[in-house]
Amino acid sequence: MIVGVPKETKRDEYRVAILPVGVEELTRAGHRVLVERGAGVGSGLPDDLYKEQGARLVDTPQEVFAEAEMILKVKEPLPAELRLIRSGQIVFTYFHFAADRQLTDAFLATGATAVAYETLRDDQGRLPLLTPMSEVAGRMSIQEGAKYLERPQMGRGILLGGVPGVAPAHITILGGGIVGANAAKVAAGFGADICLLDVNMDRLRYLDDIMPANVDVLFSDRHTIRDQLRLADLVIGAVLIPGAKAPRLIEREDLKLMKPGSVIIDVAIDQGGCVATSRPTTHSEPVYLVDDVLHYCVTNMPGAVGRTSTYALCNVTLPWALQLANRGLLAAAHSLPPIARAINIMDHAVTNQAVAETFGMAWEKGIGAGEGVRGQESGAR
Ligand SMILES: NC(=O)c1ccc[n+]([C@@H]2O[C@H](COP(=O)([O-])OP(=O)(O)OC[C@H]3O[C@@H](n4cnc5c(N)ncnc54)[C@H](O)[C@@H]3O)[C@@H](O)[C@H]2O)c1
Repeated sequence: MIVGVPKETKRDEYRVAILPVGVEELTRAGHRVLVERGAGVGSGLPDDLYKEQGARLVDTPQEVFAEAEMILKVKEPLPAELRLIRSGQIVFTYFHFAADRQLTDAFLATGATAVAYETLRDDQGRLPLLTPMSEVAGRMSIQEGAKYLERPQMGRGILLGGVPGVAPAHITILGGGIVGANAAKVAAGFGADICLLDVNMDRLRYLDDIMPANVDVLFSDRHTIRDQLRLADLVIGAVLIPGAKAPRLIEREDLKLMKPGSVIIDVAIDQGGCVATSRPTTHSEPVYLVDDVLHYCVTNMPGAVGRTSTYALCNVTLPWALQLANRGLLAAAHSLPPIARAINIMDHAVTNQAVAETFGMAWEKGIGAGEGVRGQESGAR
């Protein structure tokens, strides 16, 4: 199969969909790989590294899309890319169709097959191509929180770990899933004082067992959240209800409970956010103030640490890309249910139930009998 990797064109996107080792694995399996010049530069991967592993470097996205039978990308195709996608081509990337009717209509018109990272669900019900980005965002949330707590960034002027004789920062993490647990782990390493809140008792019991001594796990209800807001220097929003918008846990009037210069990092912003005053921001302008509380609501946090995110993403996507290339789309979908579930659009029809329902479109079961996990696939990673 001819596999093509264009350079990502979305603003603030520094990831690339393949590592040099991926080129080696694909060429060793008998496939040909085309890489657009400069595709890996944002992740610190110069063209030569791809060339050494057998990739053919091409100058334009036009050449990649014209020749490749399968396109590997990171973000959903933008209008200029959609014009280049050909009927019968496989496009393997994050799509988040449920969040974008225009994209859905435009992709349907191409006649290509959309294999979406966000709905590739394994037999245990997990979404293995989303997990690494939650791990990145969770760990990064503490790094960003530490930065914005500094006085020149408009924060309270607090060092997360304190020093001998001075108390550490208090961090409240709402949601103890992948983002929340990764945030807690990093914050604990800094020596901060952490409360991790969740509504799932099994999850709380598990977190209570594995977290270090400076992490308390608490049941998440309105009173506990309000108590926490009085104490918190940094609040991390990390909740998710699959199939729904993020629950709103902090109301506008609750901000008055918080100390001036405290910071909210609403990671759940890609699902609408869990704070009434959250609105999406970008890496170029990540923060704004409401009632003296700094809000950070970047919807694609992993984009800023492109190199780490590229490695984390490619580690989990390459095995599936290899399966698609080795077996071909139909055989791969018939023999591997996660790939069947990842097919969202094929032959001008929507094959993902959640996407079809979102837009009141016909759902064609086909091989892509993926019913999806509503809501999760609308998150931007
Ligand atoms: N902004 C970004 O760049 C970015 C990147 C990755 C993930 N995300 C988002 O981060 C959020 C969390 O993702 P995840 O992978 O950790 O999800 P997850 O499903 O692993 O964890 C979510 C947790 O929230 C808990 N929860 C639900 N309702 C709650 C409530 N009322 N109070 C407290 N906890 C509650 C659930 O029990 C679960 O443990 C999602 O919205 C995801 O889309 C954003």
